[in-house]
Amino acid sequence: MKITVVGAGHVGATTAQRIAEKELANQVVLVDILEGIPQGKALDQWESAPVEGFDTRVIGTNGYEEAAGSDVTVITAGIARKPGMSRDDLLATNAKIVKTVTESVAKHSPNTILVLVSNPLDVMCYVALKTSGFDSKRVVGMAGILDTARYRSFLAMELNVSVRDIQAIVMGGHGDSMVPLPRYTTVAGVPLEQWMDQATIDRIVDRTRNGGAEIVKHLKTGSAYYAPSAAATEMVEAIVRDHRRVLPCAAWLTGEYGLSDVYVGVPVILGRNGVEKVVEISLSGDEKAALKESADHVKGTMEKLSL
Ligand code: NAI
Ligand code: 2OP
Repeated sequence: MKITVVGAGHVGATTAQRIAEKELANQVVLVDILEGIPQGKALDQWESAPVEGFDTRVIGTNGYEEAAGSDVTVITAGIARKPGMSRDDLLATNAKIVKTVTESVAKHSPNTILVLVSNPLDVMCYVALKTSGFDSKRVVGMAGILDTARYRSFLAMELNVSVRDIQAIVMGGHGDSMVPLPRYTTVAGVPLEQWMDQATIDRIVDRTRNGGAEIVKHLKTGSAYYAPSAAATEMVEAIVRDHRRVLPCAAWLTGEYGLSDVYVGVPVILGRNGVEKVVEISLSGDEKAALKESADHVKGTMEKLSL
């Protein structure tokens, strides 16, 4: 197994480190346009191997030759938001970056599975799909696992219980219109409504929707990366180990949930071929309407693209 991570910034470098520490591949290649940054970070990570006890070689480079033949490629290249910016404010800059990166990746690793992270996430998945010409099974985006992890962590804090016992799913686009689903949230299998009142649920749902902005407000100079890199690594692990995990990911829809020609967060079975299946769960009228509204927002942003 060979895994490439493009973008050696906060999310990319942390993702490479997590992949190496879990030994998900023989080799992790970290690519960035900044001279010295991927080389330095990769060497630093490899030098942690004797202490952490992993044998995954981490290599840093400014080109794609060393990344050739990668099984999975995580794309984190692009600018991150600063306070006051929405993810959509990154559109024009990141679309150009993701297009250039995808062209190079597709040329050197024609069989790779692309895991998109760059924002605005759902639209960047579309840019990568169109640019690569890959089957949509091989172009998938990370956001739902992160949004769900935030939701689960807030619920665990509220109830003062282990995060391990909270099962949940957040669907929709990676933006303010994301769709947390309290109806499908359980704590140790017991429905959420038996654990807290509606006002508390609403407050936590709202905090989840603004989870990215909350971190940006604290950091001021950039956005979250510990939880995002953990989420991206979970996807990489599901793919390389063919775990067939059921995870919320941004997937290209062709009629599922009544939606077409759009990337949006839905539960998928993630395995060695990428998106093995989009899972259609039953949604109430309100949930369906919220998912459609979220998909419409993604489509609106797609229309502003000039590829
Ligand atoms: P960062 O600024 O720390 O790193 C971005 C890196 O991309 C920089 O090192 C930069 O040199 C590199 N880069 C720029 N153009 C490039 C190119 N053409 N080729 C290769 N590398 C290039 O940003 P950070 O925090 O790592 O975030 C990266 C992206 O991920 C942002 O767009 C951010 O909004 C997004 N993000 C998405 C999340 C999600 O849930 N989908 C979660 C967190 C971040
Ligand atoms: C987040 O949700 C920036 O999209 C990123 O933290």
